[in-house]
Amino acid sequence: MACVRGIVRPWAGARPACAARPPPSLARPLSASVPALHGHVHTPKAGEEVHITFVTKEGERVEIEAAEGDNLLDLAQANDLDMEGACGGSCACSTCHVVVESDHYDAMEEPDDDENDMLDLAFGLTETSRLGCQVRVSRALDGLVVSLPQMTRNLQASDFAKR
Ligand code: FES
Repeated sequence: MACVRGIVRPWAGARPACAARPPPSLARPLSASVPALHGHVHTPKAGEEVHITFVTKEGERVEIEAAEGDNLLDLAQANDLDMEGACGGSCACSTCHVVVESDHYDAMEEPDDDENDMLDLAFGLTETSRLGCQVRVSRALDGLVVSLPQMTRNLQASDFAKR
């Protein structure tokens, strides 16, 4: 049995040789080859859980046991909370805006200049506002309570997003 190039393949049996194999698809869905950019969190080790409470815009309190090093955006998305994170956590939007309960605000590292620049654009900015993607969980934040604002401003969409 010969294929289209004229190579004899007697072992090919009844297979249609190499003639009709379709070319590999280059248009693969992104999710098939690239892992999600965010929303992945670690499972805390027993006894090392950091307790974080998110207060949704509806006022529901959602308590999460987090591992050190994860950020609030990833935690919110991994727990199906309504935090957009339009820039994927690269500090280039303000859609991960959270309001931190004042008791824990001082336990956090200071926001850097890039975060402050984005916070200036956040809708409903408060004295204890932070960007969720920039806040990493540490033991010092055990018991942290953060509220998700009623609205966020997505400059990439040039409008307001009611959340
Ligand atoms: S997700 Fe865009 S700044 Fe946090």
